[in-house]
Amino acid sequence: MKLPQHVAIVEVGPRDGLQNEAQTIALADKVALIENLATAGLTRIEAGSFVNPRWVPQMADSADVFAAIERRPGVSYRALTPNLQGFEAAVAAGADEVGIFAAASEAFSQKNINCSIAQSLQRFEKVMQAAQEHGIAVRGYVSCVLGCPVRGKMVPTQVAPVVGALLDMGCYEVSLGDTIGTGTAGTMQQLLDELLPRFGADALAVHCHDTYGQALSNILVALQNGISTVDSSVAGLGGCPYAQGATGNVATEDVVYMLNGCGVDCGVDLAELLRAGAAISVALGRPPVSRAAVALAVQSAPI
Ligand code: HMG
Ligand code: MG
Repeated sequence: MKLPQHVAIVEVGPRDGLQNEAQTIALADKVALIENLATAGLTRIEAGSFVNPRWVPQMADSADVFAAIERRPGVSYRALTPNLQGFEAAVAAGADEVGIFAAASEAFSQKNINCSIAQSLQRFEKVMQAAQEHGIAVRGYVSCVLGCPVRGKMVPTQVAPVVGALLDMGCYEVSLGDTIGTGTAGTMQQLLDELLPRFGADALAVHCHDTYGQALSNILVALQNGISTVDSSVAGLGGCPYAQGATGNVATEDVVYMLNGCGVDCGVDLAELLRAGAAISVALGRPPVSRAAVALAVQSAPI
């Protein structure tokens, strides 16, 4: 099996995971999570977002999070920014890098950021210009690449123009979001057959939510196609425990376990990562969604 020698993991748990939590999470727990992730060797950590707090209340204290974390050298602490207002707040908070997020589906774009895809790209041009002035790298996201919660099935030709627009405006990489986790190895391959000849593997990352239990196989397909950047969320954070079927991103522990088994280096210490996942799970009052974390915890429990 041909795989990249090294995979870069972008840890999105503190943002994509916690943004979906209904319960109030103490600032100290968010800060501990981010610091524990850095201790585990993660060097790309999405620590928060600067969006309208009425839309996503859980991220309202992102500036406080950025102010409180003890920064580790070599770690990039990132934030999502939907517009110039968010970008300016992220820079003031000390974000090392920002992410702009578009969708392949018009309906989801309206639902998520209250504007059309074309309007969002206009907003992002302004963010990009400001980021270039500040020397801040910008990552792009495209949601709903394999399925849309409103429109259902997506086709690769709907995704390619949005990916192209984000790369053209200066994003160094675009993360392909399977937002509702409906993709399979087959549809991921079809998508990559459309995107790779145009953009190349180095410009792409995958961001697979695990709602249908397909995330690891979808990621493996991406790796076999030469993609070497994977987003994941410690303890599988995300989704809502009260909304049937909704789950978070693929668990970082499961990705690291798979990569270790395949002999692919990702620079993450699995034991420390398990501790980070266990600590936030205790804070949230529920076990980690990661299958590897649960299995390894059972194995190391005294008999
Ligand atoms: P809007 O209402 O159209 O914005 O929201 P507006 O420009 O008309 O402004 C209205 C109000 O929002 C104003 O306040 C602004 O100040 C405020 P008011 O005068 O009414 O008091 N506002 C802001 N406040 C704080 N920070 C900002 C900001 N911008 C405007 N940056 C907006 C547009 C995009 C802001 C809104 O729709 C929003 O915040 N959406 C949140 C979307 C979000 O965070 N979604 C989750 C992240 S995306 C994701 O999870 C997918 C991903 O993981 C990949 C995948 O899985 O597919 C990345
Ligand atoms: Mg996501």
